[in-house]
Amino acid sequence: MEHVVSPIAEIYPLMGTPELTELADSIRRNGLREPVVLRPDGAVLDGRNRLRACAIAEVEPRFVEFAGTDREALEFVVDTNSHRRHLSESARALVAARLATFTHGGRRDGGNPALLTQRDAAERLGVSERSVRDGKVVIDHAPAELVDDVQRGLIAVRAAAELIRAAGKDKILVAEYHRLRRASGSTEWYTPPHVLNLVTELFGAIDLDPASNEGEPWVTARTYYTKADDGLSREWSGRVFLNPPWDSQGSPGPWVAKLVDEYTTGRVSEAICLLPARVNTAWMDRLAPYARCFVRGRLRFGDATGDAPFAVVLVYLGDRVQEFVDLFDALGSCYGHLPPSSSAQ
Ligand SMILES: C[S@@+](CC[C@H](N)C(=O)[O-])C[C@H]1O[C@@H](n2cnc3c(N)ncnc32)[C@H](O)[C@@H]1O
Repeated sequence: MEHVVSPIAEIYPLMGTPELTELADSIRRNGLREPVVLRPDGAVLDGRNRLRACAIAEVEPRFVEFAGTDREALEFVVDTNSHRRHLSESARALVAARLATFTHGGRRDGGNPALLTQRDAAERLGVSERSVRDGKVVIDHAPAELVDDVQRGLIAVRAAAELIRAAGKDKILVAEYHRLRRASGSTEWYTPPHVLNLVTELFGAIDLDPASNEGEPWVTARTYYTKADDGLSREWSGRVFLNPPWDSQGSPGPWVAKLVDEYTTGRVSEAICLLPARVNTAWMDRLAPYARCFVRGRLRFGDATGDAPFAVVLVYLGDRVQEFVDLFDALGSCYGHLPPSSSAQ
């Protein structure tokens, strides 16, 4: 049955195919944990992705009703999604900008005051008011591909708004500027959002990203170090997510060595590290005692236009091996570490 979608549900972007496939796999294995939430008129308030995933998994969805006011419905959607999904700061700015366009009875239609001001929306989403204003420019004037790139965090909301202003808000010119910018963009192998979602699900929050990009951080972490900070020379602690820099000239060896040292001293309590799956290297040997997930197929990194030309592995350092394996099983083949008696043979 086709469901009407509440405009409130549309303030958050739909999941991409990898995330949706994972959700469908999880629903197939474990059933639908959270029911789909409907407004009294039957419109979907929360759970558009769960509905699509149920259809793929051929699982009958369950529904509950949310009968609160429009303002309460907005608050509910923001609360539930902010805990659930990893969104870059720029993607959150777009959500905040959409949030600030709602009035009683739907999207702003002229004279009616908004249910939430831009300042309220900025606070709710943890972004600056300036980012919300930039988000509004993007929503109002950007072609779909540019909105999509901001949503995915591939271009900062501020840069997108500047590009739009430079093109005099002419959509055709904006699209052309964007295409040129993209063609000259570099690839840094940013971690795909569906992988970060799993990391956040396991950790709750990431305490440190020691190898973060310049500018707006791609990974949401409490602390992050960029090249200018030199993450390798800092002390690491808490729950760490590491996707270290490496290329054909440089190996991730020093980063792996640092991670194992910090974990062994106990300063790092848990970590997940994304690496090329080169099993015949000295640095991979150092990770031998830890659980890992060999990612099925080829990953599409966050800033790349095509799939990575290499296989990748996610290594987990921590005590919750079973939870890691249960969660990351959706991505590929997972292996827990062997108990000491058998590994000693
Ligand atoms: C593979 S990217 C990962 C970016 C992001 N953390 C992620 O997971 O998508 C590695 C990043 O490390 C940064 N980097 C390079 N040398 C660094 C250093 N010494 N300290 C901290 N970051 C560094 C690079 O600029 C690059 O953005």
